[in-house]
Amino acid sequence: MKIAIMGAMPEEIAPILEKLGSYKTTKYADNEYYETTYKGVEIVVAYSKIGKVFSTLTASTMIQYFNCDKLLFSGVAGAINPSLKIGDLIVASKLSQHDLDITAFGHPMGFVPGGSVFVEADKSLIELSNKVALELGKTVQEGIIATGDQFVHDTVVKDNIVKHFKADALEMEGASVAVVCNALNIPFFILRAISDTADTDASFSFDEFMESSAIISAEFIMRMVDKIVD
Ligand code: ADE
Repeated sequence: MKIAIMGAMPEEIAPILEKLGSYKTTKYADNEYYETTYKGVEIVVAYSKIGKVFSTLTASTMIQYFNCDKLLFSGVAGAINPSLKIGDLIVASKLSQHDLDITAFGHPMGFVPGGSVFVEADKSLIELSNKVALELGKTVQEGIIATGDQFVHDTVVKDNIVKHFKADALEMEGASVAVVCNALNIPFFILRAISDTADTDASFSFDEFMESSAIISAEFIMRMVDKIVD
């Protein structure tokens, strides 16, 4: 077993690296990958940089170059579902690219021929997260995550994403990672802690809560890793 743990920004993986202790740094494809062994299991950690293209590159590198056979993503998201508050955790049941648009040709938003509107996350990893949540006495909401190359800070954009995808949260990497893992048959799990509500003051909220929410997500991911390796 070799586990990939991904974030998009340095702050999203820093608490994970801290918990893992020492690691070897390898440069590949203009990014850094941190390799270590944790409780006898090989782990590769990286942050991709923001957005669908960089996260696609990092996810495929972790799988195809580093031979990871499971991928866990940890990070922050903007809430759409009003029940999600700052710091709350959401696990993606399925993910979609909200900015993938060839509706001009009669296709639904998020769809291109050969693909699908949604990619489903691995059910057994979601089940495991439910066990971890129960043990920690934490609430983790399962829901739909919409991904796009856009920091959303506008209720009109948000409403449009709800209309097409019934999404509960949005971010900028999950669906691209999902597409890669699905194509390469790698079980994946996308966890996010809420940093903002994707409306007019989203950038201020993000700046204030990104780091603390990233820690909440990372700590949960490490509990998942403990369960996987035990
Ligand atoms: N990640 C965290 N908050 C976000 C937002 N408002 N839009 C896109 N990605 C995000």
